[in-house]
Amino acid sequence: MPERKRLVAGNWKMNGLRADGISLARALAARAAEPHACDLLICPPATLLAAVGEALAGSAIALGGEDCHAAPSGAFTGSISAEMLKDAGCSHVILGHSERRQGCGESDADVRAKIAAAWRAGLVAILCVGETGAERAAGRAVEIVAAQLAGSIPTGSIPTGSIPTGSNADGADAARLIVAYEPIWAIGTGLVPTSADIVAIHAAIRGRIPAGTRILYGGSVNPKNAAEILALAEVDGALVGGASLKAEDFWAIARACR
Ligand code: 13P
Repeated sequence: MPERKRLVAGNWKMNGLRADGISLARALAARAAEPHACDLLICPPATLLAAVGEALAGSAIALGGEDCHAAPSGAFTGSISAEMLKDAGCSHVILGHSERRQGCGESDADVRAKIAAAWRAGLVAILCVGETGAERAAGRAVEIVAAQLAGSIPTGSIPTGSIPTGSNADGADAARLIVAYEPIWAIGTGLVPTSADIVAIHAAIRGRIPAGTRILYGGSVNPKNAAEILALAEVDGALVGGASLKAEDFWAIARACR
């Protein structure tokens, strides 16, 4: 099996007006011309996709969306389809983020339909899973994450737009799926699981997803803790929130991939 190349991805969430977004993207595009050992992705809010895409053009940084609707088009005021993201220059889309599961009531079934939509449009789906603090305290972290994986990954034959995939009887494979383990209690809090806990849960995830699928860690990754987290053999990269909004911090995290 080829080695899994690490991915450092920035989730800008609902942050950035045009001027900030363009200057951040330009600064990162310039940095990405320097040697680096990982794949790079930024996922800005939908309003900035065109401008950020333009700023990243020709750079080593890919563009992604933060969410999509399951339908290709239609009467869904305010929503954006996977096909629209693809058309805007995206190669990836984050799906099932806890802020959408908790804040917008998204179920595993909703997330599963969105992943199928992403694949239909030829996008790589970044599936987020993770437990709450209470669930971890009750010893249920693996159980919760396993249920999210089982409920959110489509099975059966799902046509894949333009992503080159290997053959896989489940219709899901490593070319079009990335899993991000984001413990909810670690998001935006400065709290991070121990390295042993990250390794344990990534190993549990690994046993439940198609071989070769990358597993990112997300939740308060910053320039100080990135080297330790990214050195863990089970960690194939990071999904970064707050620290992705500063070019120097995001680049320091990318440089921690050695
Ligand atoms: P923070 O890095 O701000 O904790 O956010 C993590 C996250 O939610 C990325 O999707």
